[in-house]
Amino acid sequence: IGRQFSTSISKQNAIKNVTVIGGGLMGSGIAQVAAQAGQSVTLVDVSSDVLAKSQKSIGANLGRVAKKLYKDKPEDGEKFVAEALGRIKTATDPGEASKSADLIVEAIVENMDVKHKLFKQLDSAAPAHTILASNTSSLSINEIGSVVKRKDKFGGLHFFNPVPVMRLLEVVKGAETSEDTYKSMMEWGKAVGKTCITCKDTPGFVVNRLLVPYICEAMRLYERGDASARDIDIAMKLGAGYPMGPLELADYVGLDTNKFILDGWHKKFPDQPLFKPIPLLNKLVAEGKLGVKTGEGIYKYD
Ligand code: CAA
Ligand code: NAD
Repeated sequence: IGRQFSTSISKQNAIKNVTVIGGGLMGSGIAQVAAQAGQSVTLVDVSSDVLAKSQKSIGANLGRVAKKLYKDKPEDGEKFVAEALGRIKTATDPGEASKSADLIVEAIVENMDVKHKLFKQLDSAAPAHTILASNTSSLSINEIGSVVKRKDKFGGLHFFNPVPVMRLLEVVKGAETSEDTYKSMMEWGKAVGKTCITCKDTPGFVVNRLLVPYICEAMRLYERGDASARDIDIAMKLGAGYPMGPLELADYVGLDTNKFILDGWHKKFPDQPLFKPIPLLNKLVAEGKLGVKTGEGIYKYD
């Protein structure tokens, strides 16, 4: 059955050209895994400085992958990196970059108005067969897709940070996502090396609905002084087998992202105690202490 499913989709709707919008942390990872899998990628950002940085970090991360894959054949590793990089074009105009895309994955700032503006533009510029998908962490797929005409070809493709390492892809079915679109998204996820799960359009899908309240509970524990940050993190690593403790993970994801998700959910579900604001989180974000990316969050980084 798996083989039949895969053949029928690859014949009809095989995705070969991918446009990724947003060249930040997530977008560059998504571009990398697609290029590694042999696809033609166009990576788009409003800022050419960001694109230059993304290309650099993709090159470095491909190097880590090559080191593992071609341990004893460094020349083959270099070829692998050069070929994958060669499959990634960069651009600053999302409309132009949509014209040859079979799939467009949006990974821009987590803001509904900005995403609406972009998707309206993509919907009118992209060919009729193009699937449009959002990598949103916390916003509603139906709400993001409300501005496009091709609602049957709209859905969620939610990756995890760091994209090249985390093996999961959440494939989100919106209310009007067609079965064909859903199957193509699942098939594409597999083609770029991910294990896919299917989610409904509920807040945080599966992973973030569980992970964000867990991180927030850890912050509340720390804020109350019940244990030190280090001890909370050691506890979850050694007592529950997590690769990172919750506070390390909060800094890694970005405290601004954590706050943004929490605030959005609190506004929508004011009675849910797990979504209540956290004064410590608000204070750190107000001070610009956003975690690893700014050199300080709950912890300090060199
Ligand atoms: N690209 C390619 N490879 C990478 C990489 C990258 N960006 N980052 C790490 N790696 C590779 C390393 O080369 C290394 O490979 P080997 O073990 O084969 O040598 C491996 O990944 C482990 O890396 P490190 O040794 O540097 O570090 P680590 O063992 O501490 O692992 C980690 C780092 C993978 C990030 C691990 O700590 C981890 O899994 N942490 C939890 C991450 C997590 O929960 N992510 C989800 C966040 S929530 C989210 O993303 C959703 C959202 O919407 C907010
Ligand atoms: P980021 O800030 O690293 O990157 C966003 C990029 O989008 C920036 O480079 C910015 O210049 C660019 N951008 C903004 N508006 C644009 C536009 N209109 N057109 C083109 N480019 C534009 O953010 P990120 O962490 O990569 O997150 C991107 C998306 O992925 C968000 O929706 C976020 O919720 C989601 N996400 C984040 C994580 C995470 O751990 N950071 C995990 C999964 C999903």
